[in-house]
Formats: sequence, structure tokens, C-alpha cells
Amino acid sequence: MNLPEITLPKKARDKQEILQILREYGKNDPDYQNSRTWSLVYYLGEDHTRFLEKAHNMYFSANGLNPLAFQSLKRFESDVVKITSGLLCGDKNTAGVMTTGGTESCLLAVKTYRDMARECKGIKKPEMIVPETAHVAWEKASAYFNVKILHARLDKNYRADCNAVKKLISRNTVMILGSAPQYPHGLIDPIVELGDIASSKKIPLHVDACIGGYLLPFIEKLGYKIAPWDFRVPGVTSISADTHKYGFAAKGASTIIYRNTDFLKYQFFVYENWPGGVFASPGLLGTRPGGAYAAAWAALQAIGEEGYLKLTKETLETAQRLIQGINRIDELKVIGAPIAGIFAYKSVDKAVNIYAVADQMQEKGWHVDRLQKPEALHAMVTARHAQIAGAYIKDLKDAVRHVKKHPELATSGAAAMYGMIANIPARGMVKKTVLKMFADMYGPEAKMIDPGKAQINNGHDEQTDLATKTALWYLKLKQKFGRG
Ligand SMILES: Cc1ncc(COP(=O)(O)O)c(C=O)c1O
Repeated sequence: MNLPEITLPKKARDKQEILQILREYGKNDPDYQNSRTWSLVYYLGEDHTRFLEKAHNMYFSANGLNPLAFQSLKRFESDVVKITSGLLCGDKNTAGVMTTGGTESCLLAVKTYRDMARECKGIKKPEMIVPETAHVAWEKASAYFNVKILHARLDKNYRADCNAVKKLISRNTVMILGSAPQYPHGLIDPIVELGDIASSKKIPLHVDACIGGYLLPFIEKLGYKIAPWDFRVPGVTSISADTHKYGFAAKGASTIIYRNTDFLKYQFFVYENWPGGVFASPGLLGTRPGGAYAAAWAALQAIGEEGYLKLTKETLETAQRLIQGINRIDELKVIGAPIAGIFAYKSVDKAVNIYAVADQMQEKGWHVDRLQKPEALHAMVTARHAQIAGAYIKDLKDAVRHVKKHPELATSGAAAMYGMIANIPARGMVKKTVLKMFADMYGPEAKMIDPGKAQINNGHDEQTDLATKTALWYLKLKQKFGRG
């Protein structure tokens, strides 16, 4: 992209020219309109997008900071929470708030249970138990709120191992987590069993349904059998569900819902002595984006139960077509038995490096998400992917064939970097390398990083070079001896 350097102009620029530049900047962005992405964007087509834009724009300037000021926003929030609560089988006592996304919802649950445990049980060194597949937002919450995170290993089906969870419980446990489904492989943790454990030990259980909150209720209504995972499970004390994922709302909208206000009240923040006035907020933010709340409300109304059922049916059918297509490629295998439209697949042939397959797919214009432990590629399917499922499988077959013929692709391009990140035993070095990358991207030079080149071929400083050399050495070793 050859764009001029931008400074704050002395005089206002022409608005048409500005809009043109904005468009130019987006030219190389992932092509979600043609379903070339598998996460990041939940797209229902231009009609729905234009409609969301209108709803969003109506409340574009409105601020949900003070619920007594923009009462419209409080209304949207209450309605969205109530509707979501209904989908999650809540009752007249369930209550919650809207947040700006899954991460904020997860962070809030940790803050809530930490504060509750401190007040009710006097716990000063809080710990939480999460399955290894918990979303990274839980790691962030642990780091931000100083709650030690203990990882429960998985069973052979990649779901939380309940015995492992039991063993990790101590006097300091403030919460347990289960996901419905988890992000990496789209599998649902055994929430009923986790609920039993949580109830018997009187520990709160949060269900992270950021992905599943607007999928699983409809999957069940379509007649598929899934073990209960929502407020029907007595031990479940809170659930997060994102309207901006399978709710198809605009970005910046999620919910966190508690069984009752005895839990929710620990989420609130009040400071009564601020010279700026008594300050109270229900979530992490100060200013809260009115447009996102209005658009979430509008999306629920515009799609309705019938719409969500139809979208869910198409999503599941498309996911099954893709899963079967992938499993028919001898060298690949889908992990576990996912039913919610989210899945991951790995290579089962030593001659096929899955990250090299990802590079080939990327060259064909697909935006690919790479996983580690095990090394795999990821897909979050929406109804729109029906139109490209055949093309995806065809490209995938070609990519696998090409990688098999060219084993050197495993140690070049982005495959080498992702291989390093996934395999290098010195995890501290991975962290340092990524921190360095971020320092470059967010530092004064605001560098744009090409994952295929920057770290592997052009590592500038000593640390990066060392990481690169170690990575390449390790990858070669792994290829030679088939380890890892
Ligand atoms: C299970 C789960 N929880 C939390 C999140 C975080 O959501 P967000 O990206 O909206 O912050 C995600 C995102 O994919 C997720 O899959």
C-alpha cells in the first residue's frame, strides 16, 4: 500500500478526500463480505449491515455512562439482558449488564467473584480454576485482577477433566469456569458435572458462552440434544454471551448475566467521594458506547427467533459439510466432535505441516486462524459460509497436495514463525519476541509487521535473531526426528 504519511493538517481537509483515504486503507483488509474469514466478523450481508449502521448511528453520540441520563440506552440494555436471560433459561431473578465484548464480560466475572470471596469468605489470595482451553480473556483477567489461575487438564475428548478440576479446589478458590463452547475446538465442557462440583463446594461457576450464547439455545430448539449448560444447571451462577458474535449485532456488545443480584452487586463500582461527583458504574468502562447497545437491540428485533433458528440451521449444515469434507482429506482430521459450528483440524501426516497449509490457503485469499497445542487451523462457521464451503475444501485439498510435495515450506514464510511460536520449549522467549513485535507496532515508528518475514528473515536485534535461530533449529530437529 502506497499511502502518504498523515499528520494533523493545518487546515481542515476535504471530507470526500478523507473518506476516499479511509476506503484506501481498507483495501487489503480480510475479505469478510465474500466469506473469506472464519472469525473476527460475523456478517449477514449488506442489508443487515446497513440496517445496523442506521440503528448504531441514531445513538452514535449517546453515552451510557450515566444510566439516569440516556434512559433510552438503559432501556436497550435492560431489554437485551432480559432477552438473553430468557435464551439462557434464566428466571425472574436473573440480572446483568451489557458490556463492550466477551473480554469485558470475562474480566467482570473475575472481579465479581474475587470481591465476593473477599467479603464473604475473607479470601485474600484468590484462585480460579479454568480448563486449559479457556479463552485467553481469562488469563488476562487473572493478570489484571491478581487472581491466580489454575489450569485443569482436558479429558481425551478435549473437554475439562472434572477430576482435575476437583483436585485443584482449595480454600482460596473463588470461581470455576466452563465454556460452552470453548474457542479452540468448539467443544462444550461438561457443565452439569462442573455444576455439581461447584454446588457441593459452594463455589461460583461461570459459563463462558461468549460464542455459544446465541447459538446453543437455537441448536436445542432445532431438536439437537445437548447436555444442559445454562441456568438450568443449578451450580451455574453466571453466563457471558456475546451479541456481537452469533447475535449478529454491531461490534462492541456482549452481556454478562448472573443468577441473581446477590452476585451481580459485586460487579458494581461506586466511589462516593470524588470531587467530580458520586460515581457509579456497572462495568469496566466509563463512557459506554450508545450506538453498540442500540444496534444490539435492533439486531435481536430484526432477526427474531425464526431468523436465528434459520441462521443456526444453515450454520450447522455448513459446518457439517466442511467437517466431512476435511475428514475426507487423508492427511487432515477434525479435532473431537464439535456440534456448534466452530471446529479445528490438524494434520495427521508427518509430511504435511499444517501451518504451511495455512500459508497456502492465505495465498489463495483465505484469512486463516492458527492454533497451537495441538497445531491446528480454526474455523468459526456462519450461515454465509454455505456459499464458499465447496471452494474452501477444494483449495484445502490443493494446499495439502502442494505442501506434501514441498516440505521446505514448513520452515519458511509464516509457517516458520507460527511453528516457532507453537514449538519452542523456551516459552519466555516466545513472549519476549511477541512483546518486541508489539513494541515495534505500537512504538513511535508504528511499524506494520508481516508475520512471514519480519521475525524470521529480518530479525533486527539480538533477541529476535536468537529466537529466530532457535526456532529454525528446533523446527529442523522436529522434522528430522518427528518430535513435538
Ligand atoms: C469463548 C470466548 N470467550 C471470550 C471471548 C472474547 O471475546 P471478545 O473478542 O469479544 O472480547 C471469545 C472470543 O472469541 C471467546 O471465543
